[in-house]
Amino acid sequence: MNHLQSLFQLYPITSSILLILGSLRVLSIIYRFYNFLYRKFLRPAKNIFKNYGESGSWAIITGASDGIGKVFCKSLAQRGFNICLIARNYDKTEAARKEIQEEFPGIQTKIVIADFLKSIENPSEFYQRIADDLKEKNINDIAILINNAGVGKISRFETMEFKDMNNLVSVNIYPTAFMTRIIVPKMLGRSKKSLVINLSSMSAVNPFPYYAVYGATKKFNDQLAKSLSMEFKGRIDFLALKPNFVATNMVKTQPSGFVINVEDCVEGCLRDVGWQGETAGHWKHDICEWFIMNVATKNMKAKTSIETLAASENTKEMEIKV
Ligand SMILES: NC(=O)c1ccc[n+]([C@@H]2O[C@H](COP(=O)([O-])OP(=O)(O)OC[C@H]3O[C@@H](n4cnc5c(N)ncnc54)[C@H](OP(=O)(O)O)[C@@H]3O)[C@@H](O)[C@H]2O)c1
Repeated sequence: MNHLQSLFQLYPITSSILLILGSLRVLSIIYRFYNFLYRKFLRPAKNIFKNYGESGSWAIITGASDGIGKVFCKSLAQRGFNICLIARNYDKTEAARKEIQEEFPGIQTKIVIADFLKSIENPSEFYQRIADDLKEKNINDIAILINNAGVGKISRFETMEFKDMNNLVSVNIYPTAFMTRIIVPKMLGRSKKSLVINLSSMSAVNPFPYYAVYGATKKFNDQLAKSLSMEFKGRIDFLALKPNFVATNMVKTQPSGFVINVEDCVEGCLRDVGWQGETAGHWKHDICEWFIMNVATKNMKAKTSIETLAASENTKEMEIKV
């Protein structure tokens, strides 16, 4: 204490400036922590059906046959939306539709089969066919679009298979851009606000080695949502969802620690709908985001990526180059 007093006496101006800056930093940390607690635990979730839905409104979910997409279908069916599942495998998608219909008999469910990998051959024809299909099936009042379909791949860039690169770009980018393009005009014709959720990823928040192509495709989805939210402010809400690891077929791991289950990811995201334009979803992934942005060094990020890459390649040791 005496030491501090003498410092103040010797350098009164410098000490005062440092004291003010230190206090501001502490206040900012307290504010950010309170803000996190408020957003994740205290702030009431908006009533999604009341805000976007009307009797007979539809939610369209791409990549709906499995994982995060399938759980989005169930969560929105539970809230009263009719559900249109879009995916590539008829049997799997039809089985998911039946399961949802049996669980929520009060709503309608329909499927549209589309392999987005094929959309790059002739996008205008491909997406026009989806638009026509939706019209033929009387899916007219579209309140919600969830651009969820996606594939993942961690790889060294220099040896990445062209096939994997093509998959990432075709399935993660094309449908998000084109589905949004065909649905937005319909949404603008509605009397109520509408909602679009784009599946981005924590790998788009900050650069990670070996996730370069995957992360870049997810950055596209994030940027599209953010820019369009400005373009259609007040008429369509856009939300970019950026989870860290979620236990699905894509990551082939069980929930534990910061690897969360799909239901927690989806409910965490839906809590933030209408309040903000981007979210990590579940509070555990908010913590991951904060850690990645504020604490993790380049070497820590590289080490994590290398461990995941080594596991995917079934190798034990790799040189860290950052
Ligand atoms: N899981 C995670 O840790 C995580 C983290 C951040 C972001 N995400 C993102 O979340 C989204 C969903 O991932 P998930 O983990 O739920 O994956 P998932 O369980 O593998 O489900 C992916 C869905 O997309 C469909 N799909 C894949 N390729 C397709 C194609 N060519 N055409 C049409 N549909 C296709 C799949 O259909 P099939 O069943 O026929 O394969 C499935 O319905 C992705 O965009 C992913 O990038 C996931």
